[in-house]
Amino acid sequence: MQILKNHNLKPYTSFGVNAYAAQFVTVTTLTQLKLALAIPTPQRVILGGGSNLLFCADFAGLVIRICLTGISVNESADDTVSLHVAAGENWHEFVQWTLAQGYDGLENLALIPGVIGAAPVQNIGAYGVELKDFCDYVDVLDSETLTVRRYTPEECQFGYRDSIFKHELKDSAVITAVGIKLAKAWVAKINYGPLANLGKNPSALTIFKQVCLTRQQKLPDPNKLGNAGSFFKNPIINKARFNAIVAKHPSMPHYPAGENIKLAAGWLIDQCELKGYQLGGAQVHTEQALVIVNTGLATAADIVALAKHIQTTVQTRFGVELHHEVRFMGQHGETSLAEVCRG
Ligand code: EPU
Repeated sequence: MQILKNHNLKPYTSFGVNAYAAQFVTVTTLTQLKLALAIPTPQRVILGGGSNLLFCADFAGLVIRICLTGISVNESADDTVSLHVAAGENWHEFVQWTLAQGYDGLENLALIPGVIGAAPVQNIGAYGVELKDFCDYVDVLDSETLTVRRYTPEECQFGYRDSIFKHELKDSAVITAVGIKLAKAWVAKINYGPLANLGKNPSALTIFKQVCLTRQQKLPDPNKLGNAGSFFKNPIINKARFNAIVAKHPSMPHYPAGENIKLAAGWLIDQCELKGYQLGGAQVHTEQALVIVNTGLATAADIVALAKHIQTTVQTRFGVELHHEVRFMGQHGETSLAEVCRG
């Protein structure tokens, strides 16, 4: 295990912007991970696939890149298949692998970038399903005690793009593996728009292909055009505010969210005619306004400035505050758009 100094993070993050880490290590075993956690540093960041992160500045601490691999299968239960998946496994390759084994269920979550260890952090979701629907447990290494503890889905406190790993366990937990449970009696989930036209009994593979097609049409491939997927969360507002807005914009897409209503941030941004809008090298994606892309030479400052402009424009037009889904890393650890803009 080699400790690299002043290492450029550009190749490890899907936004593809330059930012240097004071120290950087890649770990491929649990033993190496424990050794890495013992390296003296003022702060550290755990890096998976780097597909939901923006390094806004050079990072003054240690970046630990998790490359733990391995999948084990337990088919002994009558009704479910249980999979134990190491944190560094690529999510999409894992989904493909499950389907090739005949383990159906994860097809709606095809082509989501990143690694399995990152999936519980923001409870990844797409096309009507979320990780929490399949999560059996999450194995977590405590960075202080260096012991692994298994968290149940309830303990993970999954919510919309949210979990305990973004809050209470933000600085102390390193996810080492995720348990996935797939029902042997598979049921297609095809309520979401682009999947509703697949006929009566589409196979999991048909759904998988349709999800891949839909994502490829709308979402930029991070290998070609740097991005971190949806930049903002879909905002959740109360019914009174919703009624006031929808009275003026009757065609506005909206979804129930418990007592409240979830709006489509992409639609709000699109209505502000920001698709294709560019600041420096950062651009609002031309096909899906919820995504910010790096046209080639974007700096983190370009992306931050564009995000702020989007947020202010949507606030002015609709009175709705957008919150970023992408996590911001500053010189000394996690930060936010508001803090970065305050300087
Ligand atoms: N819309 C527009 N213009 C746009 C984008 C969207 O009018 O530029 C409208 C669409 O026509 C639709 C509505 O907004 O009526 C919702 O759009 P879409 O179905 O594309 O989904 P989304 O809400 O923008 C969410 C997730 C995506 C996920 C899709 C599909 C969030 C923040 N994003 O996007 O997740 O793939 O649903 O389920 O919840 C990600 O998290 O990185 C991500 C890509």
